[in-house]
Amino acid sequence: MTDASSRPPVLVAAAVLVEEGRVLLTQRKRGTHLAGAWEFPGGKVEPGEDPRAALVRELGEEIGMEVSVGDPVEVTFHRYPEKSVLLLFFAVTRAPGSPDPQALDVADVKWAGPGELHDELFPPADVAILSKVRALLAPR
Ligand code: C5P
Repeated sequence: MTDASSRPPVLVAAAVLVEEGRVLLTQRKRGTHLAGAWEFPGGKVEPGEDPRAALVRELGEEIGMEVSVGDPVEVTFHRYPEKSVLLLFFAVTRAPGSPDPQALDVADVKWAGPGELHDELFPPADVAILSKVRALLAPR
């Protein structure tokens, strides 16, 4: 078997979607890597796919939302025992007329305030961005 550390990282696009001082989170399904963890919604970028297009596709499939993808917010790299992931976080907004998020292909979905962003709820690859997101949600 090839050692996980010798394989290229899985490229993942994830959304930072803020509305009314809360950020959108999805919960990973049973039977998946890191099941039960809450994360910034998104998923694997397919070979040859534009990461922003991947994010639009993933949010449509997972939570039935139509979105516009804006600027990059952060890039993180994390090595799990079984694989490594390169996560591209983008600022995302709801497209006009898009429905509210629904748990179509995730265990659950919620809007979280800054006080709910506890490190231990998230995949390790997402933790590095939490302080930035808390700052985004802080009342000005
Ligand atoms: O969601 P999907 O299974 O396509 O994600 C691919 C990999 O990226 C998984 O191993 C998952 O743990 C990781 N991931 C992550 N943080 C996210 C989304 C995915 O660490 N916000």
